[in-house]
Amino acid sequence: MEKTCEKEDITILAIESSCDETAAAVVRNGREVLSNMISSQIDLHTIYGGVVPEIASRKHIERINQVIGEALQAAGMTLREMDAVAVTYGPGLVGPLLVGVSAAKAISFASGIPLIGVHHIEGHISANYIENKELEPPFVCLVVSGGHSHLVRVTDYGEYEILGRTRDDAAGEAFDKVARAIGLGYPGGPKIDKVSKEGNPDAIQFPRAKVADAVYDFSFSGLKSAVLNYLNSCEMKGIEICQADVAASFQKAVVDVLVEHSMQAVQECGINKFAIAGGVASNTALRSALEKECAQRGISFFHPSPIMCTDNAAMIGAAAYYEYRKGVRHGYDLNAVPNLKLGD
Ligand code: KG4
Ligand code: ZN
Repeated sequence: MEKTCEKEDITILAIESSCDETAAAVVRNGREVLSNMISSQIDLHTIYGGVVPEIASRKHIERINQVIGEALQAAGMTLREMDAVAVTYGPGLVGPLLVGVSAAKAISFASGIPLIGVHHIEGHISANYIENKELEPPFVCLVVSGGHSHLVRVTDYGEYEILGRTRDDAAGEAFDKVARAIGLGYPGGPKIDKVSKEGNPDAIQFPRAKVADAVYDFSFSGLKSAVLNYLNSCEMKGIEICQADVAASFQKAVVDVLVEHSMQAVQECGINKFAIAGGVASNTALRSALEKECAQRGISFFHPSPIMCTDNAAMIGAAAYYEYRKGVRHGYDLNAVPNLKLGD
């Protein structure tokens, strides 16, 4: 830790490469996005039905310098004008993470600007600061993405208390697996979201799992198995499934659990501010259910726009700003940490 910086405007070049998006952004004072470049690899991984880590790493290497250059160019700035370079160093896929971490270290070394490693989930949470200028901690945040499902109490900038987490599959993972099972393909979340609009969410009663000893924890693998069992039994009986009804009923089961746990957490924490983050936070059914429940309870509801929900570097720049202000700096021994815990 170094002493808190007194400079007024802080501009950060941020890099994100933890999964299948190669992204770079320039963010001022944690809330103003000057540029946000995302090079998605989704098309490359679609034929495999999921992200192939080796392919992702290779593509990150091919694209990272160009994406960083484009981010600076779009912001109309040079490296010399940056106050720091920030990078996601975990959690995520080790190969993809290493590409971003190596690029950030090289930039820091060559230009002399400080290096700040950022936790990917802290980035997702911080995406809320970009489009909700009035949002300040404390608040409760539901982080639901392809790799994580966390219910977090944000006590201060960069200070988190985990209230609950998934015991097995992440919410996005369940969306992706169920989408594949009903023939929608990858990535499943947006496809289930879309198809569900044509279906009946009450057509099939799928289970809403509770974890006995931890009220805020989630478990989605039982729900995923229930959908697979339903599909098998329909097949054995020669009944044709209604894809839209299965999608809508599955989605409702996920949304019900996420909403119930979130509202309970907000009320028990005595905080009237609630935010969502991560890829699944762009789900339209989840957003409208939370909107309604929060309105009924007088809770202010915050959410990033869909592009800020999925992986991007602007959110890393937002999180990095508050770390920078606290004096956090990393050395050139910064490494990728695939299973980095929030708060480490
Ligand atoms: O945050 P993200 O881009 O990457 C991770 O950090 O994991 O989240 C990706 C996940 C995928 O599982 C994807 O299917 C899911 O978010 N997702 C959605 C929607 N859009 C993306 N899930 C449900 N509804 C959506 N509209
Ligand atoms: Zn993510």
